[in-house]
Amino acid sequence: MKRRVAILISGRGSNMAALIEAAKAPDFPAEIAVVISNRANAPGLERAVAGGVPTVVIESKPFGKDRAAFEAVLQRTLDENRVELICLGGFMRLFTAEFARAWYGRMLNIHPSLLPCFPGLDPHGQALRAGVKLSGATVHFVIPETDAGPIVMQGAVTVADDDTPDTLAARVITIEHRIYPEALRLLASGRLRLDGDHCRTLDSAASNSTLIAPAVR
Ligand code: GAR
Repeated sequence: MKRRVAILISGRGSNMAALIEAAKAPDFPAEIAVVISNRANAPGLERAVAGGVPTVVIESKPFGKDRAAFEAVLQRTLDENRVELICLGGFMRLFTAEFARAWYGRMLNIHPSLLPCFPGLDPHGQALRAGVKLSGATVHFVIPETDAGPIVMQGAVTVADDDTPDTLAARVITIEHRIYPEALRLLASGRLRLDGDHCRTLDSAASNSTLIAPAVR
């Protein structure tokens, strides 16, 4: 039985599209049951419809700071759609600790940095200001703290001296689109184990690749 997944978005939805595409494979262990947006004008909504996935809009703005009231409506929608797992894809709204705890181990997020470096806003600007030579993307389990939680998968890219936040973002997003479906595959097929603050992967293959930057002539 495929696990039923909700993807929560606020904007463009390119990670959502990558997950929808991956889930079309007959052997993928999850199906995208619903895409939920907290913004009616999120461009990702049209992409979800084009991908044949039902969409629901729950505007968060009218709830203001009352996160629990928003989450009550969200939880009802998740229940109605018999959702078992949640993937956040650029979902720009914080959860209450209660909601994050209720979904612990069943809710993934992706963030465009090598966490725990550069959580929050403008991660690419943060990376460039710090002068790192490698950056990347992280899929992690959601905990009450923003952009934190047991790390499931990471992918790295080199950072060039002339990178801008936009050029770096363009390189990192291709990594995001690769690792998010793979992380969901691992979760949905029961191959992830939470061990305290760590996530372990059952029968993972050895990865011997090394990324060194800058390359010296
Ligand atoms: C992605 O880069 C995702 O990693 C980031 O928002 C973007 C959404 O793009 N998420 C965060 O920064 C979470 N703190 P998308 O809508 O095209 O997937």
